[in-house]
Parts: sequence; C-alpha cells; structure tokens
Amino acid sequence: MYYHIVTYGCQMNVHESEKIAGILKEKGYEREAPLEEADIIVFNTCCIRENAENHAFGNIGALKKLKREKKGLLIAVGGCMAQEAGKAELLRRKFPFIDLIFGTHNLAELGALIDRKRLQRRAVVSLSEERAETEDHIEPVRTSYPNAWVNITYGCNNFCSYCIVPYVRGRERSRRAEDVLREVRSLAEEGFREITLLGQNVNSYNSDGQGGMSFPELLDAVASVEGKFRVRFMTSHPKDFSEELARVMKKHGKICNLLHLPAQSGSNRILGLMNRRYTREKYLSEIAMLRSLIPDCPVTTDLIVGFPTETEEEFEETLSLVKEANFASAFTFVYSPRTGTKAAEMEGQIPEEVSKERIMRLVAQVNENTRALSSLFVGKTTEILCEDYDEKRGLYLGRNEAGRMGYFPCDRNCIGEFVTLRVERANGVSLYGTLEDS
Ligand code: 5AD
Ligand code: SF4
Repeated sequence: MYYHIVTYGCQMNVHESEKIAGILKEKGYEREAPLEEADIIVFNTCCIRENAENHAFGNIGALKKLKREKKGLLIAVGGCMAQEAGKAELLRRKFPFIDLIFGTHNLAELGALIDRKRLQRRAVVSLSEERAETEDHIEPVRTSYPNAWVNITYGCNNFCSYCIVPYVRGRERSRRAEDVLREVRSLAEEGFREITLLGQNVNSYNSDGQGGMSFPELLDAVASVEGKFRVRFMTSHPKDFSEELARVMKKHGKICNLLHLPAQSGSNRILGLMNRRYTREKYLSEIAMLRSLIPDCPVTTDLIVGFPTETEEEFEETLSLVKEANFASAFTFVYSPRTGTKAAEMEGQIPEEVSKERIMRLVAQVNENTRALSSLFVGKTTEILCEDYDEKRGLYLGRNEAGRMGYFPCDRNCIGEFVTLRVERANGVSLYGTLEDS
C-alpha cells in the first residue's frame, strides 16, 4: 500500500504533510508513490489566498475518474481549507467521492479516522474547534534533508484584518521549550544540518505561558545545542521584534544572519487598516537596529498590493519601502478577500486590473533589489549547505545563510555538506560558481 500527499501553501503545511506521512507509515502505508499508484491520496490544503483554494479544487475534481476506476482508493482532504467555515459541506457537495475530511486540529487523529472510514460507507468528517491531541508523538517522515522543520507555536492571535489564519488555525499555542529542545537535539544527532523553527509569529512564543521561556531564550538554547547545523526561524512579526532577539542572532554563528520580517505595506494608513500594529517608521527602525548589530543583515519580507482603499500614492510608499529597507527578496501578493475577515467587508475593494498593474511594478522593484544584492556575492566565496542535485543542469545546489541559492559542479555526492562556493556569476536569487576545495 502506497500514499500520495499533495501539499499547498506554506512551510507549516509542508511540515504537517511530513507528519501526515508519518501517520500513514504507522498505518502500514509503505511509502510515497505517484498519484496513480497510491492507495490513499491526501490533500493538505491552504486557504490563505483564493488561488490556493482554486488550485486544490481543480486537483481534487480531477480525481473523479481515478476514484471510479480504482477500488479501495481513499481520498482525504485536510488542512486550512477543510477547516474553513462552510468549505467541508461545499467539498462534499462538489466531490461526493471524497472519503475523509479532517481539519487543522484533527491531524493527529488521521489514523483513527482512516480506521473509521473502513467501517462505514459515508464520508468521515472531523472538524474540531480546538486541538484535542498534541502532535508531539507523531514521528514525521522528513522530506527536506538536510533541513528539518520544527514547530514552536501553532495558530495565531493577531487577526490582521486580511488574514484567515486565526480563524482556521485557532489561538496561538506554544510548544514546551523542553519538547522543542529535545526534538532539536535528536535532529542534530541524526545529522540534520539546518533546523528551521516554525510559527505564525515566533516572536510571541510563550505568550500563553506554555513555552516556559521567551523566544530569544529559546533561540539561544536551540543554537547552543551541540552539533554542526544552522538555525533559521520564521515568521517574525514586526510588532514583537526586539533588540534582545537581534543580540541572540549576533551571538551565535549557528543562527543564519537573515531575517524574514513581513512588512505587508509601506503606508501607515494601510498598515492601520490591516491591524498590523506598527508604523513604517517603527519597521524601518527595527531594521536599522538589527543592521547596527549585524551590518548589512539581509531582510526578506511579504508585501500585499491592492488592499481595500489603497491609493496609488500609498502603493508607491510600499514601492519606496522596498528600496529603503533594501529587502534581499520579497514574497509579493495581490490582496485576496477572505470570507469572514474584516477586510473582506471593507468598502473600496481595488479592481483587479489596478492590483495587477501594481504587483508588476512591485515585482520589478523587488527583482532589482534581488539582482543588486546577488551581484555583491560575485567574485567572493560563500558557505553553501548542499541540499540537492539538479539532474537537468548537472549541478548541485544549496543555500547560503542569506538564502541565495548556489549552483555548482561537484564530483562527489555532497548533499548535506557545508561547502565553500566561489561565486562567478549571479542571476536573480541564484549564484553560480565552483567549489573552493575541488
Ligand atoms: N491576501 C493576500 N495575501 C495574504 N497574505 C495573508 N493573507 C492574505 C490575503 N488575504 C499574505 C501575507 C502573509 C503571507 C503568508 O500571505 O503577506 O504574510
Ligand atoms: Fe495572518 Fe497576521 Fe497571523 Fe500572519 S500574523 S498568520 S498575517 S493574522
């Protein structure tokens, strides 16, 4: 018996799919296989923007024929979209062949739900408002060696006015620091070379008192674990970023000098409407503080264009922020109204053609920054953690601490090794060159 998992959305979902794979293995499914060979297909969905949802709907719909032809095939839909108000009913109506629907709080029950489905004809639906079980006992099937994802918080309390995450992932909960540290120690012993701490807002770790220490303390403790590995963390919220955290970043060579700090907009009026609880000035002062401790520390960000009522001038403030903050790269999004959020009810929704035009200009500005920063590496050496081999190009690849992807030839399998790349040319976020020691 084989499984196939289709993942949409963020790193949080990528790691949850690793946990789903762990549960399936425990249930006797041997390994991941192509869609057509699988005995169970799980869709781990995302609902943060409309296109992620449309994508999932399209892919689930395309399985109708396979489901009819293959006796015993189980189709399960889980994750954020399954949890969204009214979506489970819609999924069942549109795709009556779905066997199992499970929400964001029901992942740990997946094994039991599969058993239940085997005993009943009708679909099994499990959607809880709160997480009943922790996920700590699940042994994930890690798919991103040499990186390993480690959850530190689940859920979000911020209620940014455009965002559906707090509604589908519930209130913020912190994992106990001792559990996080135990996981990190064992990953380091297993030979993982990069640990990425995950949370919707890592800076507010322990806001519920369950963690036992603050985020800077946790990061300090994680980076003090013995072994040769890098530490990354995401996502930081600018309202909670602190000098204490920047000092911990500076203190440890293991912590990558790179900060992902979503700005969302460069306009104070829009930031207010977004309920972000910081100003452009505060945002820029945090970056300045960080760079006073770690000179030129690369900062990446998330930006949204076309938020309701955004004017041309306000959009231009986002454009100018890209330059002023000197972002190393950015994820750029067209605002997507999400049912149930405050912003979806606001007057002054921006026409699609306006948003499209804005995002093109924004992407051009971000690309300019990306190119300028990448070109700084040319002629220098940079440490790369080799992640993979690109068969088409015949090159190994991996990231440096600033997140730039380096490509290089190597006559041995160096996946999982730290290597020194002499950069000969750059293209976008990619760097090309040869290894110093080969
Ligand atoms: N529309 C567009 N982008 C969104 N994001 C979150 N919600 C929306 C939305 N409704 C973006 C934010 C966030 C990233 C993960 O997704 O930029 O930081
Ligand atoms: Fe959404 Fe804001 Fe929470 Fe991020 S911090 S998940 S954007 S509500």
